[in-house]
Amino acid sequence: METKIIHPKEINEAVEAIKAGELVSFPTETVYGLGADATNEQAVKNVYQAKGRPSDNPLIIHVSEIEQILTFVENFSKTAQKLMDTFWPGPLTLIFPLKNEKVLPSVVTGGLQTAAFRMPNNQLTLSLIEKSDKVLVGPSANTSGLPSPTTAEHVYHDLAGKIFGVLDGGSCQVGVESTVLDLSQPNLQPTILRPGAITKKQLEEVIGPVLMDEHILSEKEAPKAPGMKYKHYSPKTPVVMIDYLESNWQEAIDYYRINEKKVGLLVNEKQLSKVTNYDDVYLLSKNRNVTEAMQHLFAGLRSLDEKTPSLDIILAETYSEKDEGLAYMNRLKKASNQKKYQK
Ligand code: TXA
Ligand code: MG
Repeated sequence: METKIIHPKEINEAVEAIKAGELVSFPTETVYGLGADATNEQAVKNVYQAKGRPSDNPLIIHVSEIEQILTFVENFSKTAQKLMDTFWPGPLTLIFPLKNEKVLPSVVTGGLQTAAFRMPNNQLTLSLIEKSDKVLVGPSANTSGLPSPTTAEHVYHDLAGKIFGVLDGGSCQVGVESTVLDLSQPNLQPTILRPGAITKKQLEEVIGPVLMDEHILSEKEAPKAPGMKYKHYSPKTPVVMIDYLESNWQEAIDYYRINEKKVGLLVNEKQLSKVTNYDDVYLLSKNRNVTEAMQHLFAGLRSLDEKTPSLDIILAETYSEKDEGLAYMNRLKKASNQKKYQK
């Protein structure tokens, strides 16, 4: 199959393809998703296959209207209603209990009694959902294990030949996947299963106390969001985290260079001006800004991974694990397998 890059003006081609059960990648504010009709079992199976994704890892259902969710979910709590009113469309995914297991093909939910929903903040994709009159599954449109795609080119790189097309909406602004919040346990406080751009603090301002799944901060494996247990976001080139001490940077670069390694940096521009002797760089922000760093992290990992001749090591800057820094570090720790530079 020849994969087409679909221009926004040609959106009707994407709409027809989705209706026909084809796979079309769509832009969102977070990362590109791999779209298919969530009620078409074969189309959803093809999504897992195109990504090479383990089938016990459930998918997010993307909607353009809140009412669409009521086909699958009995009703909304006040908490859920407030969250949707405040943060949608936006980078927040909510997990609800399903009416019953027959409302969705079990491939969507990995056989769970719950399902994840989100309304993405991207006009093109909202109209794709609306015009096709389908709700869409949308895992990140990368080959399973690689960094999530933040441009149509990234999607094409991973999935060309395997999907109908990519609706090209330019670069994603947020850069990491949505915050996943579990609202499915009536006896438990809402719990963050995956950190994202919408922080615990922002959620708490709207709904009061929110729990953080313990596995996000501890170094343990197998957190509750099924997808979080898999190795993720890893480029082929090893990644090492550098704690933000200025002297460490030059020392680390020199350490690897002495050992004849080609060194790439993922760092902010201000810090870059203080070091020499590296082989390549991808700038994450101008002056150590975590929002910008988050936006560019996956693109930076991909870009440095594609260099010829290839790099031997990528040194990446850390942030403190609070607010948006938690989402950034969650992805970077996975990409680096928690490896930190130490003297
Ligand atoms: O920003 C995003 O969320 C992007 C864009 C494309 O919308 N999508 C995305 O999808 O990141 P995916 O499939 O790569 O990640 C979905 C996450 C996984 O960690 C999955 O385990 C979790 O949501 N998830 C889905 N359904 C769940 C459920 N019923 N219970 C718990 N976790 C669930
Ligand atoms: Mg993903």
